[in-house]
Amino acid sequence: MSILVTGGAGYIGSHTCVELLNAGYDIIVLDNFYNSNRESLKRIKEITNKDFKFYEADIRDKKALEEIFKNEKIDAVIHFAALKAVGESCVKPLEYYENNVGGTITLCQAMKEAGCKKIVFSSSATVYGMNNHVPFVETMTTGGTTNPYGTTKYFIERILMDIYDSDNDWNITILRYFNPIGAHESGRIGENPNGIPNNLMPYIAQVAVGKLECLSVFGDNYDTPDGTGVRDYIHVVDLAIGHIKAVAKALESSGVNVYNLGTGVGCSVLELVKAFEKASGIKINYKIAPRRDGDIATCYADASKARNELGWIAQRGIDEMCEDTWRFQKNNPNGY
Ligand code: NAD
Ligand code: WQD
Repeated sequence: MSILVTGGAGYIGSHTCVELLNAGYDIIVLDNFYNSNRESLKRIKEITNKDFKFYEADIRDKKALEEIFKNEKIDAVIHFAALKAVGESCVKPLEYYENNVGGTITLCQAMKEAGCKKIVFSSSATVYGMNNHVPFVETMTTGGTTNPYGTTKYFIERILMDIYDSDNDWNITILRYFNPIGAHESGRIGENPNGIPNNLMPYIAQVAVGKLECLSVFGDNYDTPDGTGVRDYIHVVDLAIGHIKAVAKALESSGVNVYNLGTGVGCSVLELVKAFEKASGIKINYKIAPRRDGDIATCYADASKARNELGWIAQRGIDEMCEDTWRFQKNNPNGY
């Protein structure tokens, strides 16, 4: 079976490519390198000792997509390509809607024309918005997102569901990721943010390696055990394996399926800092700062649907997530 992976050079995409190749799938990777580079593709080949086809292309480029679908036999698409910086999306909403929503529409048009009707989409726990209570369950009402990035994910979910309603031959699989962290155990691929990281784990890792001075902990007066924000951190390799399970099911059936990919366990900012200190043996300098706009106190998954229907369960705990992040950071202090 042959899978087109959009955004396959990126953080989650590269780890998923490794697991797809290890599972025996043929892959075709598409990326415009907006937030990645060729080195990750080289390292996927090095880790797996397998080769694959790559197209440097943009999901908004209909002609390029038509060419790919003409040249390749594609059974399903795993669609990672997107812009993902929450803060930036508030400053550049049009770019986010154009790239994420517009790009997905163009991709689905090309898929439809080529008769490829199976798509696994990278959504986010952010679609549960501000108005639901933990643990988040797939049946909850979505929306109430707090930034344009999150709204792109909400809109795309709706668009994909409408595509299915119009044509029941499609398989639409929506994966709502919680907070992916960690890296491949080889230390060769991992998260490689441009500039100052927005997310907690890469920030901690860059403080540890001496690139950043001090972590700001955004709020210590939330209604949580230690007052800091609680999230459901999930190892990126577990997340990647979730895609293998999801695509295998998608290849066999049609329908719309939504799955949370999380551990079901919450971890606070200060707990993650402590776990990272233990994994790295390095003291993380931090200070308490005001809350960040748009943050909620607590976010974790009810992960039972993916367990029951996909037979998927996250295996790796917080200590392993920190050890693997640290190995990648230490070995690649300046990224790829
Ligand atoms: P990433 O930025 O590392 O990977 C995205 C890849 O898509 C990059 O390689 C980028 O160059 C490429 N890309 C972007 N726009 C493109 C376009 N128009 N055409 C072709 N390629 C394009 O991000 P990631 O963390 O690997 O995220 C992958 C997906 O998962 C995204 O859809 C993201 O929104 C979603 N997601 C990520 C997180 C997270 O915390 N990392 C959480 C939930 C959901
Ligand atoms: C985690 C916790 C912060 C940075 C975001 C997106 C979400 C998804 C995953 C893509 C929170 C605290 C953070 C820092 C801190 N992305 N924090 N100091 O906000 O849960 O989710 O990434 O889809 O859509 O919103 O992740 O890593 O930014 O924050 O104290 O420098 O760490 O307040 O409690 P978040 P995060």
